[in-house]
Amino acid sequence: MSRPLPIAWLNGEFLPLAEARISPLDRGFLFADAVYEVIGVYDGRPLLLDAHLQRLAHSLRELQIPSPHDHAGWQAIVSGLVERNGGGSGHPDIGIYLQVSRGADASRSHTYPQGLAPTVFAMASALAAVDLDTPGVHAMTAEDNRWARCDIKSTALLANILLRQAASEAGADECIMLRDGLVTEGSSSSVLVLEGRTLLSRPNGSDILPGTTIALIREVAAAAGIGYREEAISLARLLAADEVWLSAALRGVAPVTHVDGQPIGTGRPGPAWRVVAEAYERRKRS
Ligand SMILES: Cc1ncc(COP(=O)(O)O)c(C=O)c1O
Repeated sequence: MSRPLPIAWLNGEFLPLAEARISPLDRGFLFADAVYEVIGVYDGRPLLLDAHLQRLAHSLRELQIPSPHDHAGWQAIVSGLVERNGGGSGHPDIGIYLQVSRGADASRSHTYPQGLAPTVFAMASALAAVDLDTPGVHAMTAEDNRWARCDIKSTALLANILLRQAASEAGADECIMLRDGLVTEGSSSSVLVLEGRTLLSRPNGSDILPGTTIALIREVAAAAGIGYREEAISLARLLAADEVWLSAALRGVAPVTHVDGQPIGTGRPGPAWRVVAEAYERRKRS
């Protein structure tokens, strides 16, 4: 996310981000005992809010953290941040970061006491306009060495961070991960592979984050006559694909032009990507 805008939310109030403080005993700080969501807001309207809140509820439930807000409460936080940070007017597009930790506990015990008050933090950032003339993404591949519950959107992102850093140091923009020889997902994105007129992506399970954006991309692609099948694919098929796309809430759908230095298709953003990316841009504002 880009540089945050000035007004944040912390534990029940909107306040200047510069004044937001949490305890060093917060389990989010000590253990990454926390979950998060990232939501795109376009022309003042959150995209796929229900899907994000459902995934947040799943992450919280799996960690046995009681949800501190109901749907209307989360919605009020998101819209309050958008309004207070000039969303829709000064900044037409905004990214919202929402984090819930289990809360502060003096014992620093691995076992968690019941009844802690979760820490809720949220902030906004201005989004740059999407560039449909992008030269595309260079991706590196690496073994997926994350834990086995990637369906939980946990702030414990060290494996993702190290892989993304390795990609950056290798001159790539993203790391596409493989487990047992099959593509799982990007370090911060879902992976879609186009073979002919069929999009392929790994079925949801505990080994990937169920992306919110990928579901909308599939709908948009279907409307453009592109089919979809859930299938985990090998590195060889990834490299031989007609097109490879990445999707994520703030990124939308991005074309991968190179994987491990090898061109995908022509080595330029593909024609199917352009059709779907343009339709997605219209859809996210409709
Ligand atoms: C590991 C991972 N997979 C997939 C995604 C895409 O999810 P979404 O489309 O909901 O942003 C993300 C987004 O940050 C991610 O971090």
